[in-house]
Amino acid sequence: MRFEPEDSDLFFGREELVSALVKRLEDSAFLAVVGPSGSGKSSLVRAGVVPELERGEESIRAAIIERGEHPLEKLARTQDADLVVVDQFEEVFPLCRDEGERLAFVERLLAWRSRTAASSSCCAPTSTGTAPRSVASPRLSRIVRR
Ligand SMILES: Nc1ncnc2c1ncn2[C@@H]1O[C@H](COP(=O)(O)OP(=O)(O)O)[C@@H](O)[C@H]1O
Ligand SMILES: [Mg+2]
Repeated sequence: MRFEPEDSDLFFGREELVSALVKRLEDSAFLAVVGPSGSGKSSLVRAGVVPELERGEESIRAAIIERGEHPLEKLARTQDADLVVVDQFEEVFPLCRDEGERLAFVERLLAWRSRTAASSSCCAPTSTGTAPRSVASPRLSRIVRR
């Protein structure tokens, strides 16, 4: 089971990575956390990055959204958050069947005024099949490659 924000006191061993990611979110509004399934991405963001930002000097409010058929509706409900976490980002592609909505979701995330941390296994060798579709937005693939 992955670690959640409320488990942050039990989550350890990723301190340097958490600081590095928090720093990256200061410089760039969009952070992509990509790696093989089971490598700890969800836990890192949920129990590491989110609590660290909430504890910070300028404490921020985070909203976590997850897989679903209508990601745009979920995103609309996070209007007031300073950080939007999109966990299992790659699932937007198979789950949201409307291509227009999918693209609108990705574009809106990239243009979002709050910060976004998207966690995804889409480039993992273990989850082939999802990778080609995740490149559906050229702007997104440019950002993810960084
Ligand atoms: N820092 C850590 N220390 C020990 N176990 C961890 C750590 N981070 C993640 N795990 C465990 O590894 C497994 C996979 O974590 P998860 O966050 O779901 O990975 P991913 O999102 O990359 O698939 C879970 O059982 C989780 O509890
Ligand atoms: Mg995960």
